[in-house]
Amino acid sequence: MSAKNIDWSELGFGYIQTEKRFVANFKDGKWDEGGIVDDANIVLNECAGVLQYAQTVFEGLKAYTTADGNVVTFRPDLNADRLITSCERLQIPVVPKEMFLRAVEEVVKANIDYVPPYGSGATLYIRPYVFGTNPVIGVKPADEYQFRVFVTPVGPYFKGGAKPITIRVCDYDRAAPHGTGHIKAGLNYAMSLYQIVDAHNNGFDENMYLDAATRTYVEETGGANFLFVTKDNKIVTPKSNSILPSITRRSLMVVAEKYLGLEVEHRPVAFEEVKDFAECGLCGTAAVISPVGKIYNHGEEICFPSGMDEMGPITKKLYETLTGIQMGRIEAPEGWIHKIK
Ligand code: PLP
Ligand code: COI
Repeated sequence: MSAKNIDWSELGFGYIQTEKRFVANFKDGKWDEGGIVDDANIVLNECAGVLQYAQTVFEGLKAYTTADGNVVTFRPDLNADRLITSCERLQIPVVPKEMFLRAVEEVVKANIDYVPPYGSGATLYIRPYVFGTNPVIGVKPADEYQFRVFVTPVGPYFKGGAKPITIRVCDYDRAAPHGTGHIKAGLNYAMSLYQIVDAHNNGFDENMYLDAATRTYVEETGGANFLFVTKDNKIVTPKSNSILPSITRRSLMVVAEKYLGLEVEHRPVAFEEVKDFAECGLCGTAAVISPVGKIYNHGEEICFPSGMDEMGPITKKLYETLTGIQMGRIEAPEGWIHKIK
């Protein structure tokens, strides 16, 4: 779709094909330079490693138009670092940080008309990913890989934007102890599809996963970390080796402490404690901070005092400060904002 035909304010979280993408290939033990191409389609051998054994990892970040008309990305160096961790865990040759940052910058520049305007409520979602391309039939890593980055303009991840959502405690697990929950592997999302469809069919927006070993600690949802606010305005975020280390969550902890003067705790959170919190939100690049109004747990409901109509007051302050930093209304900590245009 041509950028001029997009109604930015009507966008949901979907894929709109834009004009350009970045592609680099790994062959004979090294990555090529890579560059911008037009073709959105990929032709793969039927036995490609990614198709047989799901050898693929990805990232997600956004480009924003700021109040003064610049185009920026938010902490892309942390996405580059996390992709390296993900690659290492799945025996994928790491995507050099320099190439990752260059690819993100080149793709955003090449699709600059698709960066939604300031104040539209939309942003440009950037999806870097790597996958094994050559034929693999015995279970082993591929020898050849492709790294791609495409972009797509998006609106809110959850319909209704800032309206509180309802989630449920899920009976399936997202990630095993010592498994792959801490990396951004496609396989983690494939195995969550049954649960998300079932959640939607039963009227819930998302699943709350508990720790697989004891089912007593809060982990995360399929696509975001949890953030809780105590009745005395402390920020609490769950800690576990099988949670994806969210860049949004890590940034919000700094925002809470340094900008809002709130106390912050990153520690294991027992599900038992959840009923005593004052506010709950999901945080991530796609979710930003989506307030949770209600958690359903096998016939029982936890209803947060912030209610089902709007974000709780602390969640709102966090949301406004973080998005203020991302959109250039509030001064950012050193190194958080990467200017592209
Ligand atoms: N947890 C999961 C499982 C995710 O897929 C994401 C999305 O990237 C997050 C958390 C949030 O991470 P970030 O804030 O880095 O986008
Ligand atoms: C992101 O927030 O970037 C994600 O990857 C979440 C995804 C489930 C859309």
